[in-house]
Amino acid sequence: MMKVNNKKNKTKNSENNNLPLHLIGSATLLSIGSICFLLKKTKNSNSKLIEQSKMIEQSELIEQSKLIEQSKQIEQSKLIENYNSKLLEQSTLIENHGKKIKYLCYENQKLFSMLRNIQNDYTKPYETFQTTYDSFNNQWKDIPIPDLDNHINLCTDLMLKWTELPRKWFKSKKVLDAGCGIGRFSYGFLECGAELKSIDFSSNGVEITKKNCQKYNHKNVHKVNLLEYNDNETFDFVWSYGVCHHTGNTKLAMLNLFSKVKKGGKIFLMLYGFPEKIIDYEELNNYEQLRKELIVLPDEQKMDYLKKRLIELFPCVMEGYNTTEDYYASDHGRMLLHGYFDAVSPPINELLSYEEIFTILNNNGFSNIRRCNDNRNIHIIADKL
Ligand SMILES: C[S@@+](CC[C@H](N)C(=O)[O-])C[C@H]1O[C@@H](n2cnc3c(N)ncnc32)[C@H](O)[C@@H]1O
Repeated sequence: MMKVNNKKNKTKNSENNNLPLHLIGSATLLSIGSICFLLKKTKNSNSKLIEQSKMIEQSELIEQSKLIEQSKQIEQSKLIENYNSKLLEQSTLIENHGKKIKYLCYENQKLFSMLRNIQNDYTKPYETFQTTYDSFNNQWKDIPIPDLDNHINLCTDLMLKWTELPRKWFKSKKVLDAGCGIGRFSYGFLECGAELKSIDFSSNGVEITKKNCQKYNHKNVHKVNLLEYNDNETFDFVWSYGVCHHTGNTKLAMLNLFSKVKKGGKIFLMLYGFPEKIIDYEELNNYEQLRKELIVLPDEQKMDYLKKRLIELFPCVMEGYNTTEDYYASDHGRMLLHGYFDAVSPPINELLSYEEIFTILNNNGFSNIRRCNDNRNIHIIADKL
């Protein structure tokens, strides 16, 4: 059987083998050509497909990244919205607290002003009156102002600037320097040719004023307590820089000074002002803290304690100095110590608002009342009708 089949196959093959060669060749060529054509087509359509799929992929990616970006943006704007609403909440809280604090400050001012109105006479001074006296008396002896000559010149210039009066206005005018300290302003009035009287309740202050004004042989310097100053002498110009608020009865001290001004004369006062700006509170809180710490110490320890505390508060002042002694031997160190001792050691320090001072002056025969220096402490000048 096998043999028969083999024969048959042989016959078929020999039949094929009988096709003319050129036909076989052209058929082969044709089929190769069409294969090539097909291959090319396939290749083309493949690359198109790849192109397309790439494009799809890219556009999908773009779409996706757009979506991600959008969702991120939504997320972020939600966060920002949240943050903003929290901020708003907080700032409303702060604003409300600010309003409350402002109101409490007004209340405080009014209470102090009322106290000053009912505290008519000087029968019962604070027990701190003596401590205030001692503080100034020691200050003038133990912490002299550094570079005094220059400082005095500066004070004269400032006095002329604030009063807006020319030097020649003072010539032969009767002037009172009330609470003269060591006479840093007294010197300026003498230099301008005034007929000057200087008073202070500190005996050291009185002596040092005489010494500092030796050039003008200034002998009209007296130890006087402003609260008991009620003789009949009057002046063309009454000057009192940083004094009444230390007396224990600011209003009485002011009224006593008012009575010293001639009709048509002028008064200048510098009084500690009630805080108006946030930075004022920071400064005043520092002062209050140091006052609390100093008041319990014996006098002889106050200075050293303050030196130590000032370095703790302002460590940068030590730059360029090896020891605290070196720093406090410098003009800067002496001025810082002097300024802080002056501000925090006297326990009596009242603060007044401009409105209160204005009202007291206005109710007591003064006009043309004006603030003459942009400072928390009230520098005020007025004319007596
Ligand atoms: C801060 S010092 C200012 C001194 C001076 N006016 C100056 O600017 O340099 C305050 C002065 O007020 C004086 N003083 C305080 N209470 C007084 C009173 N009741 N009578 C008189 N002088 C007083 C002190 O002795 C001190 O010299």
